[in-house]
Amino acid sequence: MKGLVLSGGFGTRLRPLTHTGPKQLIPIANKPNILYCIEDLRDAGITEIGIVLGNVMPEKVQEYLGDGSEFGVELNYIVQGEPEGIAHAINCSEDFMEGDDFIVYLGDNLLKAGIEAIPKMMKDESADCVISLFPVREPQRYGIAELSPDGKTVLRCVEKPREPKSNLAVIGVYALNRRFFEVYPRLKPSWRDEYEITDAITLLIEAGYRVVPHQVEGWWKDTGKPEDILEANHLILDDIDSSNEGTVEKGAAVVGRVKIGKGSKVTGRSVVRGPVIIGESCNIGPNAYVGPYTAIGDRCQLSSTEIEDSIVMEDTVINIERKIVRSMIGRHSRIVSSNGLIPKGERLIIGENTTLYL
Ligand code: G1P
Repeated sequence: MKGLVLSGGFGTRLRPLTHTGPKQLIPIANKPNILYCIEDLRDAGITEIGIVLGNVMPEKVQEYLGDGSEFGVELNYIVQGEPEGIAHAINCSEDFMEGDDFIVYLGDNLLKAGIEAIPKMMKDESADCVISLFPVREPQRYGIAELSPDGKTVLRCVEKPREPKSNLAVIGVYALNRRFFEVYPRLKPSWRDEYEITDAITLLIEAGYRVVPHQVEGWWKDTGKPEDILEANHLILDDIDSSNEGTVEKGAAVVGRVKIGKGSKVTGRSVVRGPVIIGESCNIGPNAYVGPYTAIGDRCQLSSTEIEDSIVMEDTVINIERKIVRSMIGRHSRIVSSNGLIPKGERLIIGENTTLYL
């Protein structure tokens, strides 16, 4: 069995963070979303993986993941070109699959329970397709599956239905086989002009192939919006263990589950209250408070400031006597005090599509 991770999409709802890289590389608890997907595939025994690249700085994905050997997998890159939907992206992998069964994982989806159950189901049930389902509150936003009354068979899937027949979202993990490529030529673009995976699944059902539902356990997140990423950060940090490869100076306090990376220091009268993850070579202090559910990337410097429930990306400096909450701060940012500046006031040098709550 092979794996396929899709790394396309424009990430419009995540601008300005996606002006400088694809959404799949935004760190969640200091690790890009796409790497969680690759690790889940690897942990399910799938090491031969194709990555379908979109057209938002695809070279950054390649630069970060390389040939995959660092993560215990073998990566092959497939260029989608124009984005024409999930089913189209999958179809681009036909040569790479060489007739094998495969698992598709959307690079902006995150699952607590991993995917180990899915290859087993595909085999045990002699299925042509296994779809993963998760109950959602707003079914109009997702692909939705309609099941038979006994819940064992998928009757059809509809993309973002106006009048949903169930609340079971078809989430971004699908097991498929060569039948997918057989039905694909019959697929028509949807109202949003995409080749939809949900329509392809319905075609498989109509052609008489066996599509089996799998109810996902634990939590599932589609990290398409800032609040989803903060929520995912929260969920991952809920499960971290403490470890300290840095130094906590006398006078500073580290409380609860906190992971501190190599060469990082907590100094002065600073307090770090977990769950928190701090990357490598950071300076936290003096007089910093890092509160629960915060992830700080490598080489950040935080002093005289309070922050919680936030994501701070690499190489960022924060020194401001204000409290920052529920924020996402991009790489190489500086948030510093305007005290002493004339004229006094908020001075902002910010990129396009930025949101500030002051
Ligand atoms: C896509 C799929 C949809 C699925 C969702 C899960 O939606 O088309 O069927 O439920 O991913 O993340 P999109 O992100 O394109 O709106």
